[in-house]
Amino acid sequence: MAEVMLLTPSSSSSSMASLGSSCRLPPSASTTKASLLPLISPSLCLSSVKCTLSSYQLPPLVLRQVRRRSLFRRTNAGSTVMTPTCFASDPELLKSARQDIKELLKTTFCHPILVRLGWHDAGTYDKNIEEWPQRGGANGSLRFEVELNHAANAGLVNALKLLQPIKDKYPSVTFADLFQLASATAVEEAGGPKIPMKYGRFDASGPDQCPPEGKLPDAGPPSPASHLRDVFYRMGLGDKEIVALSGAHTLGRSRPERSGWGKPVTKYTKDGPGAPGGQSWTVQWLKFDNSYFKDIKERRDADLLVLPTDAVLFEDPSFKVYAEKYAEDQDAFFKDYAEAHAKLSNLGAKFDPPEGFSIDNGPSKPEPEKFVASKYSSGKRELSETMKQKIRAEYEAVGGTPDKPLKSNYFLNIIILVAVLAVLTSLIVDK
Ligand code: HEM
Repeated sequence: MAEVMLLTPSSSSSSMASLGSSCRLPPSASTTKASLLPLISPSLCLSSVKCTLSSYQLPPLVLRQVRRRSLFRRTNAGSTVMTPTCFASDPELLKSARQDIKELLKTTFCHPILVRLGWHDAGTYDKNIEEWPQRGGANGSLRFEVELNHAANAGLVNALKLLQPIKDKYPSVTFADLFQLASATAVEEAGGPKIPMKYGRFDASGPDQCPPEGKLPDAGPPSPASHLRDVFYRMGLGDKEIVALSGAHTLGRSRPERSGWGKPVTKYTKDGPGAPGGQSWTVQWLKFDNSYFKDIKERRDADLLVLPTDAVLFEDPSFKVYAEKYAEDQDAFFKDYAEAHAKLSNLGAKFDPPEGFSIDNGPSKPEPEKFVASKYSSGKRELSETMKQKIRAEYEAVGGTPDKPLKSNYFLNIIILVAVLAVLTSLIVDK
């Protein structure tokens, strides 16, 4: 089976494909054998070099030099120490990729499908299998056609197409990291909680490493509660995480032509944004909040979707405790969701360095105004901060504020009027 797109356009040969996806060359690395050698970065790790060898036989001298430069670095004090400087993806490039994902979200409103992509890559994990990548999980294997063709993944090829230009721009960012970065960014940009993510995931390198079909949950199994437990417990997740993660259905729509679930169109989806159609779980389906739990509980609107696996969250006694709590308390939902999402995104992943790394070490420059997707799904447009400040300044210039409209001083107006009349009368009488 072929690897589906998402390789740099230049990495067309199959050996180069596996090199680009699993061995993480720097972004500048071009794809010809001749140009490869001078471009090997000193920080390229030994494992990458070994990996490269399977496709490209480096001369032994070059290999030794690369090995030495990658494993030993000079400290400020001048002593030479072992410093593991190799990451599966580069932190700075991940940060740039995150900015590009934010731009993509602003123009295409693809938040839901990116969240589903990250979840479906990670959700194949089996805690009973030790070997990587046979154990499944967040390893980028969903980019291969064989896995994309699993029934549960219908439509996700569109998410891959959306991320293609970003992958092309940062080829050394692994697919596994890119999928999880895109998902977490989408949740945050839709107004959801900040997710404590880590990065540095290795990629599975070939379609033979894809998990077998049937690892993801069905929406309408005969016994939804025990089915959810079978699937999520296999991933090492518990009841709280099942309920919290289901809350991601606050975003997006189900399309009958993809999953077989949902109406073809509703009053909430007929105008998009994005491709119109499908049935959403919530009214504002680009806003990440706790309305999923409220809507599932109340079930007052036939235009909103409730899958059997959603309904069971308020039926099973153990799930219900969490579902009720999240319907009441959005902060509690956000806290548990953020933890569960981070855990999901790490399932089965192999990191470099082994503990992974964060890309949130404090912003170096102030972030631009946050884009909140819900403004677009609600039909209402909120004013930007700049516009609000402008309006406030205009009010203040005439002595008021936007919160307290100016009150006319009728008494003063009458006195002025009387005075003007008196002056006019005296002028006329004088003449
Ligand atoms: C609990 C078991 C789950 C079941 C049975 C389930 C099932 C489904 C189904 C049938 C769809 C519709 C797909 C389509 O027609 O395009 C869907 C969409 C979606 N799912 Fe789930 N899901 C589950 C859990 C999750 C989890 C854990 C997450 C994320 C953490 C998630 C995120 C999403 C999102 C965001 C969409 C909307 C995609 C879009 O609008 O394109 N789901 N899910």
